[in-house]
Amino acid sequence: MTSRIPLIAGNWKMFKVRSEAADLVNAILPVVSRTDYCEVAVCPPFTALQTVYNLVKGTKLALGAQNCHFEDSGAFTGEVSPLMLKDLGCQYVIIGHSERRQKFGEMDELINKKLKALNKHQLKPILCVGETLEEREARRLNEVVERQVRGCLVDVPQEKMLTTVIAYEPVWAIGTGRNATPAQAEEMHIFIRDLLGKMYSKDVAEKVRIQYGGSVKPENIKELMAQPDIDGALVGGASLKPDQFIPLIQFKD
Ligand code: 13P
Repeated sequence: MTSRIPLIAGNWKMFKVRSEAADLVNAILPVVSRTDYCEVAVCPPFTALQTVYNLVKGTKLALGAQNCHFEDSGAFTGEVSPLMLKDLGCQYVIIGHSERRQKFGEMDELINKKLKALNKHQLKPILCVGETLEEREARRLNEVVERQVRGCLVDVPQEKMLTTVIAYEPVWAIGTGRNATPAQAEEMHIFIRDLLGKMYSKDVAEKVRIQYGGSVKPENIKELMAQPDIDGALVGGASLKPDQFIPLIQFKD
């Protein structure tokens, strides 16, 4: 049996001003407090991190950010460093999201630098990987995901791999309402876990949490979470509304 604790994380993307962020957190906090079979995190935009931290401090709800730079400080106009995110009380940081890869040109090499910078500050990376529809249809999905996993994890030692979360997010399933079937997701999660086994060890591979992301909603969470290698969800749209996010946290109830 696995000892992996599922992580349900909300990626709020570029949504929620501070008052809206506070309302959402206040609505989900009581549920998070009484749920003990999964860990829950929210990843608001940078501008709401402080507001949310004030509410979640000392609770079971973890705070994450959606991106970072790889340096601690410097002349990088508009960027936010891991040191600053640590200072704000973040525990997790999403890196390599497909929106950053596709809309901001981020490549594996840069994501690898960010991941190592997070490790330096004991922040836990949520590393996103996933193929496009074109790549899936050309049956290149394994090759693409393997390249992303290997490229983003260059020189990442075993002990840091253990605190890294991988989020498998097929690009065609993000924001489209069309989730990967539980079987499709499980197949890729097994592939990623086997790959970690080759890169590290079977023991490490068994311990790393691999989340699924892409149109996760109350209607499909149970089936997805029933797969042995799916260790949680990275949720976009459905994390923005309490009536949709709460059933995701309570996937076993
Ligand atoms: P949706 O849940 O809106 O499909 O977004 C998924 C996602 O991108 C999470 O990072």
